[in-house]
Amino acid sequence: MLCSFSFSLQLVLTLVSILHSFPVCSTNQNAAEKIPSSNMDPLELETLFKIMETLSSDQDWRVSYPNPCQPGSSWPGIECRYTPSDNHFHVTRLDFGTPPNPACKNSATFPAHIFHLPHLESIFIFQCFTQAPARISVPANNLFTSSLQQLSLRSNSALIGTIPPQISSLKSLQILTLSQNKLTGEIPVEIFSLSSLVHLDLSYNILTGSIPLEISNVRNLVGLDLSYNKLTGPIPSAIGSLRILQKLDLSSNSLTGKIPDTIPQLNSLVFFALSNNRFQGAFPSGLTGLQNLQYFLMDNNPMFVPLPLELGQLKKLQELRLSNSGYSGAIPSAYSQLMNLSSLSLENNRLSGRIPTGFANLSRIYHLNLSRNFLDGIVPFNSSFLKRLGRNLDLSGNPGLCLSPSAANAFDVGVVVCGNSKSSSSSIKPLKKSEAPLKSDSTLFAVALFVLTLLHHGLCSC
Ligand SMILES: *[C@@H]1O[C@H](CO)[C@@H](O)[C@H](O)[C@H]1NC(C)=O
Ligand SMILES: *[C@@H]1O[C@H](CO)[C@@H](O)[C@H](O)[C@H]1NC(C)=O
Ligand SMILES: *[C@@H]1O[C@H](CO)[C@@H](O)[C@H](O)[C@H]1NC(C)=O
Ligand SMILES: *[C@@H]1O[C@H](CO)[C@@H](O)[C@H](O)[C@H]1NC(C)=O
Repeated sequence: MLCSFSFSLQLVLTLVSILHSFPVCSTNQNAAEKIPSSNMDPLELETLFKIMETLSSDQDWRVSYPNPCQPGSSWPGIECRYTPSDNHFHVTRLDFGTPPNPACKNSATFPAHIFHLPHLESIFIFQCFTQAPARISVPANNLFTSSLQQLSLRSNSALIGTIPPQISSLKSLQILTLSQNKLTGEIPVEIFSLSSLVHLDLSYNILTGSIPLEISNVRNLVGLDLSYNKLTGPIPSAIGSLRILQKLDLSSNSLTGKIPDTIPQLNSLVFFALSNNRFQGAFPSGLTGLQNLQYFLMDNNPMFVPLPLELGQLKKLQELRLSNSGYSGAIPSAYSQLMNLSSLSLENNRLSGRIPTGFANLSRIYHLNLSRNFLDGIVPFNSSFLKRLGRNLDLSGNPGLCLSPSAANAFDVGVVVCGNSKSSSSSIKPLKKSEAPLKSDSTLFAVALFVLTLLHHGLCSC
């Protein structure tokens, strides 16, 4: 119905406050333009105001925004769409928490009726539940939720409790972000029945239990972030079914076991982070399958194996972090083929032998940390390389390393000049400086070995 009457604003407000469940006519003076009226379904409008009252006490929303979907008179953080078929506006997106969006009151609780808005596609609730404890609740018999594509509840320090399994009734969900809250309990397997899911981010919560095998059901997943929780157990092999996965971040949990043999099947992977866990043992064969990998971050795991040669064939690698993990043996010279490498962290391992001479050819590298290993021989870098990396090059804590005199005048990289025993004590200094970040058993082990080696080797012998 297109209202052609023209009311004064005052009259509209009065009418609305008395009969707010009735359709409200357009205040547009020029009905001839055939701009659709701001009609909303009365039930939808009432649901919307109830949501506002649950979350926000900024103002009396019924009075200040009687036509919240009316173009030009809607509040920030609401989006609506006009549907000609029913001549109604429908709410499609709601944003709460940070300016300019409506702020949340201290007593805000989770607005379960938000899932009753029949055309809602996106919900963003950011820094909203910060005072009174709130829990996610999704109505069990939910008739309307099929439209919701994005649910983002982020940085709500008072959002507690478990992730309700009923979340699986949101069948169209493509993006589910529950990051930086205080959610506890296990990841409900029901989440993995959401077959449209493209991004799942549960990072920075207090989730426990293991990664469910059912994870293999979300075949459209492109991004999976479970980092900074308290997850235990192994990575399920079934993860290899997620063939279009580009980002996998499982860092900072307590995950154990080997990296599963199915990981090399994830050949779309660009970002892969396993840092700060308890992974150990041999890498799976076939790592060369990860031909799109640009970031491989895996520091702080008790691996205690040699570095995998195959990483040298991942030509797109830009950042490789394998520090604090007990790696032994030589640094593979194959790593000099990683021409796009910009950052390499191998510090705090038990690596021995020479720095591959080809490293001098890594023209994009700007950060290289090889400190606290058992590397020896002459550093293969000339003064222009040393100058280019400056403070981002750290070779300290390798008592067997020395710099050729021609390169020595550049920066202090924590290494003595070859044949100059007088300044050798300076090579020990950086160790003291970096004793603070000791973390894992493997580190302690490496340090104990390092001290033994110091006592044994004495001075640089190049
Ligand atoms: C290396 O980086 C450059 C510039 O970003 C890019 O054009 C090139 O494709 C990359 N090489 C590989 C092997 O990914
Ligand atoms: C470094 O690159 C140059 C020029 O591409 C090549 O001739 C040389 O063999 C490379 N050095 C190593 C050790 O790979
Ligand atoms: C230093 O080494 C690089 C790479 O091997 C080379 O391109 C450059 O010319 C060298 N610079 C000097 C000053 O010798
Ligand atoms: C290299 O790693 C050590 C830890 O062993 C750390 O203290 C130091 O700051 C790092 N240096 C650079 C340049 O990243």
